Amino acid sequence: MNASRCAQGPHPSEGELFKKTLGPEWKLLHPDIRRRFDRNPLPGRPLHYTGTTGAFLAQVAAGVGVALSGLRDAAAAFRLKRIEKDMHSVSPISFCDTAQSVLVTGATGFIGQHLVRALLKDGHQLTVLTRRPKQAAWMFDGKVRCIESMADLPASCRVDVIINLAGARILGSRWTDKRKKELRRSRIGVTQSVVDWVAEATHKPALLLSGSAIGYYGIQDIGDQTVLDETAASQPMFMSDLCREWEDAAKAAAAHGVRVECMRFGLVLGRQGALPMMLMPILLGIGGRLGSGRQWLSWIHVEDVLGGIAHLWKHPGMDAAPGGQTSEHIGVSNFTAPECVSQKTFSETAARIWRRPCFLPTPGGPVRLMLGEQADLLLEGQRVFPGRLRREGFEFRYPELAQALQSLK
Ligand SMILES: NC(=O)c1ccc[n+]([C@@H]2O[C@H](COP(=O)([O-])OP(=O)(O)OC[C@H]3O[C@@H](n4cnc5c(N)ncnc54)[C@H](OP(=O)(O)O)[C@@H]3O)[C@@H](O)[C@H]2O)c1
Repeated sequence: MNASRCAQGPHPSEGELFKKTLGPEWKLLHPDIRRRFDRNPLPGRPLHYTGTTGAFLAQVAAGVGVALSGLRDAAAAFRLKRIEKDMHSVSPISFCDTAQSVLVTGATGFIGQHLVRALLKDGHQLTVLTRRPKQAAWMFDGKVRCIESMADLPASCRVDVIINLAGARILGSRWTDKRKKELRRSRIGVTQSVVDWVAEATHKPALLLSGSAIGYYGIQDIGDQTVLDETAASQPMFMSDLCREWEDAAKAAAAHGVRVECMRFGLVLGRQGALPMMLMPILLGIGGRLGSGRQWLSWIHVEDVLGGIAHLWKHPGMDAAPGGQTSEHIGVSNFTAPECVSQKTFSETAARIWRRPCFLPTPGGPVRLMLGEQADLLLEGQRVFPGRLRREGFEFRYPELAQALQSLK
């Protein structure tokens, strides 16, 4: 390819030459690199390299770009492979001795994917409510029936158990009024549509297991050592209200004879979810405490989430404690491991396991400035105890943080 300088007219810039030199090979570059280059081309100073030198440099730059994007793709592929391997190696869990017809919402999410695979392994028939039926069918190898709306499920259809996990991501962009509306609609709205279907169903499901979060308890003052079980009160703040309204929407199914179990999840640890993002600074060797580091962090391993679901499924109404069971049809359980730690301990434990230093604190101020109200999720916490699961003798596979993180290394 000849990149000689024009004798007349404007000089081609390095950027133009780069693209021109590659010719058809430009198309071989990763789309991200092409987009980035189009948005932000190399500086347009006149060409100083001529002929083969320019072509050589452009080829080197392209080579480096392709190699970098290849490495990135390889890393992503490796991670995906590990996630997929993880999913397929889910240890068998017995949810019920006889095959049941199960409806799952939020099935394509982090917890949902693990759950659906475990349910299929246990021999149940699955229907999933999803906004992305094609992806869901592909994700579960065509072994589930996909519906886009509860209106697609005839009232005569038999559903024995419903597991309700749908909800727009809580962590992300600021909680503007619009986003709060979506966080509510995707949980409370979806739950209401499920309960409306139950009201019409000819065969009523026996059980509705519905998601919630420990955000129900609001935030605990730094230094407060109180242990919160299912009887602890909610607080007048957005995340607490969201969880309470979400639970109330699910509890409405009890009026139709359905046993309702609300599951207040702590931070669920697995290779997906929030953990990879939390580990990033640690893996880069720049981890440390966040804010004071003394905020409580209540967590649970994803395998114990599945085990807890199976436990509630098989143990209707064993809990007679006040608050844990508000009527014969309604129960509430904290899904957190028995060992709750401070955020600082969490970072130090992860750094130890991944053999990285843990020295760089992130001040809370900028985080609060960036995230506003949502910063409470990171800078404040709750010391939550799985009162009901413990009372009923549920055995956690990962009761301690170090074991749980080690299993995800
Ligand atoms: N993971 C945790 O640490 C944790 C902690 C506390 C509470 N929770 C709650 O537990 C539930 C499951 O958690 P997860 O980590 O598995 O969640 P996730 O990975 O974010 O998946 C949630 C699922 O909800 C559906 N969804 C997302 N946005 C939606 C919207 N705008 N409208 C309707 N459906 C929407 C999606 O299914 P489709 O795309 O198939 O429709 C998605 O797969 C969530 O509600 C979450 O808030 C999770």
